[in-house]
Amino acid sequence: MSQFNDRTLTEQVLESFANTPDPRRKTLITELVLSLHEFVRKTNLTFEEWDFAIDFLTRTGQKCTATRQEFILLSDVLGVSMLVDAVNHRSRDDATETTVLGPFYVGEHKPMPHGIDISVGIPGKPMFVNARVTSLNEPLANVPVDVWHADDEGFYDSQKPSYETQGASLRARFITDSDGQFSFRTILPCSYPIPTDGPVGQLLAATNRHPMRPAHVHFLVNAPGFEPLITHVFVEGDEYLNSDAVFGVKDELVSKVERHDDPIMPDGSRASEPWYAMSYEFRVRRGSGHVPQPLMAVAAE
Ligand SMILES: [Fe+2]
Repeated sequence: MSQFNDRTLTEQVLESFANTPDPRRKTLITELVLSLHEFVRKTNLTFEEWDFAIDFLTRTGQKCTATRQEFILLSDVLGVSMLVDAVNHRSRDDATETTVLGPFYVGEHKPMPHGIDISVGIPGKPMFVNARVTSLNEPLANVPVDVWHADDEGFYDSQKPSYETQGASLRARFITDSDGQFSFRTILPCSYPIPTDGPVGQLLAATNRHPMRPAHVHFLVNAPGFEPLITHVFVEGDEYLNSDAVFGVKDELVSKVERHDDPIMPDGSRASEPWYAMSYEFRVRRGSGHVPQPLMAVAAE
């Protein structure tokens, strides 16, 4: 019969994984055990704290649905998502900077015509987006680009009960034209709180952290033969740019969104209020990389 102290136990647990056939899997489980055991030793974790941790993770899983991913949110607020991003993009070779996917990517949509309004029926200040995809210097045609952002109250379409019956809004896929460009009409995004009605919200409240994210639009550029680009464009001047709840801001991704007072907007319609224009050039580099699985498919597995 084996008996272990708090050091020899770790060695024995590592030994139990010694025959893991896949070397990468063996490395990951070994390092996970080492880090977890070290955490417990360093903190002298109590039974009550261990109980709490188990309950917290259980509730995090229970909060997940086909359109709600509380574990991604937990990873985001702990900075793990941005750390995974950082270790996988240590050099960019002048390609556009990356940032978190976030929990509200629900997969691709059928391509929409350029110039279309993706905010029909959604209140907000009109914003026109003109963007371009290049291979560092040459325009890239026929590239699918997924776009999604929150409404004026900070909600993504997939968070609303109406999503299943009414479908997507403030969310679309565009295909770049021969000059690498695409454009659409939407509303000016605003800063918004990440969902706080679950365990992650309780974590933020218990640690005196605010849940706000600076205003942004998500983009996923997936050109065949190029490294997929998962990023945001943030709105310059937002008060939360320096304290993003998920640590996702990079200077290069902050864009000046210009206010216009012209009476006619770019789509030819008459302006009843000031309107805004965002433009951005996404530079991608040759290679391959991880393309996120749509949330619906993940949940269905
Ligand atoms: Fe977002």
